[in-house]
Amino acid sequence: MERDEKEMKLIAEVGAASYKALIKAKSMVKPGAKLLDVAEATEKYLRESGFGCAFPLNLSVNSEAAHYTPSMMDDKVFGEKDIVKVDIGASKDGILGDNALTVDLSQQNGKLVEASQECLRNAISRVKAGVMVSDIGREIENTARRHGFKPIMNLGGHEVKTHELHAGIFVPNYDNHDDTQLEEGMVVAIEPFVTDGKRGEVLESDVCEIFGYVGSAPIRAPEARKVLAEIESNNEDEPFAVRWLTHTVGSKFALYKSIKELAMAGMLTAYPMLVEASNGMVSQSEVEVMVTKDGCEVLTK
Ligand code: CO
Repeated sequence: MERDEKEMKLIAEVGAASYKALIKAKSMVKPGAKLLDVAEATEKYLRESGFGCAFPLNLSVNSEAAHYTPSMMDDKVFGEKDIVKVDIGASKDGILGDNALTVDLSQQNGKLVEASQECLRNAISRVKAGVMVSDIGREIENTARRHGFKPIMNLGGHEVKTHELHAGIFVPNYDNHDDTQLEEGMVVAIEPFVTDGKRGEVLESDVCEIFGYVGSAPIRAPEARKVLAEIESNNEDEPFAVRWLTHTVGSKFALYKSIKELAMAGMLTAYPMLVEASNGMVSQSEVEVMVTKDGCEVLTK
């Protein structure tokens, strides 16, 4: 993988900004705080620091594993006992960051949070050029089970490429016997999810606040056309939150209706909220690394 100095510098910059945004979001996750306020402040922080968002801030609570971002006018607040996954990434010129952590507001799920953290540390210690992705998965699974938990089998890490957050190789959270090898220079997000649920898998829910642009097609409804025009001018490249389009049409109803029409017509892809199938509590830890000859360098720091 050939990269010039400028690109290497940008990758490091985006990683650092992703980490700063993560810590900023974390500091605002408190009982009684509004999810919408945390999301808006974090995304604003990234924009004001000269970056975009690789995807909207995800704030997934308890058995929600991923892909919840507040809706427009969302009045949800964090509860005293919530276990909150904070997942965010910066973007600049197509270079994308991705990192996540879990905040245990109850202070009663410390073991679950520690388990995902240790899964991540152990996984990172395995990363180097030539290692098979299933070796990393096995390490994650063994660590989770040692703690008495299950890894989430249908979520995992992924290679990150320009404008493509989930690209190329998939890094499982269990031994899936995939002998694909990591290569020097690859940018990879490692993200173990662990749960105290019986199933250890996620299902798609009906809630969907995150979409990605696929391509244009003819559409007649005037409001849907306005929403599409906004997406095509500002949100074409990375996944976006429905609430980012609040200003395009008059009402919440019209906005969600338009989004649905565009999705039905194949112009958008949906990223529905993912919930653990047995309603177990979920903890996630994630960093983005660059694979080196004999290890890796954490980029989101
Ligand atoms: Co990720």
